[in-house]
Amino acid sequence: MVSLNPDAPDVASQLSQVQGLISDFEMENYIQTFHETHIWDTNWKILAENFMESYHLPVCHAGTIGGLSKLSEMVCVPGSPAFNYHTILKDDRLPIALAHRDNTRITGERRRMTFLLAIYPSLMITLTPGYFWYLSLLPHGVGQVHITFGGGMAPEFAKSSDAQTYFTQLKSLLDEVNVEDRGCTEKVFRGLNAQAAKPGHLSHLERPNYDFAQYLAERVGNFEREFDADRV
Ligand SMILES: [Fe+2]
Repeated sequence: MVSLNPDAPDVASQLSQVQGLISDFEMENYIQTFHETHIWDTNWKILAENFMESYHLPVCHAGTIGGLSKLSEMVCVPGSPAFNYHTILKDDRLPIALAHRDNTRITGERRRMTFLLAIYPSLMITLTPGYFWYLSLLPHGVGQVHITFGGGMAPEFAKSSDAQTYFTQLKSLLDEVNVEDRGCTEKVFRGLNAQAAKPGHLSHLERPNYDFAQYLAERVGNFEREFDADRV
């Protein structure tokens, strides 16, 4: 995290709520197993917005993870000043997305809960009980985005005797998911540039997009966001 503003508040205080949300995952012990860079022909904001909603999973990701989660089980809460998040539940067809049997720190429904964290403006983190991946976005002109893409596994998976199998399975899955997202977001970018493009309504499953739009309006305009006292 870098800022040229010497008066910027420290990151830890701005993101203290995140720590509270996911402390039982103990993400600090996850092991990064890959780290690479890409350039896609879409806009950084479209890719960020795509990450912030799982509404597109059943369609865009029909060939991979689309069927693992139910729209009815997605939870999209109001955003916070420095980030938004939503959660989905994955079923047992993807064991690495669930808490490993040796993982006793995560309990109940959270053992199959995926957190999708959008740290404003450009750090997107998917955290599951078994693995994580992230996108760090940097605009590359108007029509391209530079992506730092990395991820890895929770220690129970990374240190198991089947670690290499898990890693291979995870990386090939995430690569396939990325190909799907690339296709969707590059098409959206082309569509938005079409003369006939018009904005449409957001679904309640795109609540984080609403919060992100308000964040951007505040940063580039005179919009003032309002938050419930318990979310500030
Ligand atoms: Fe996606």
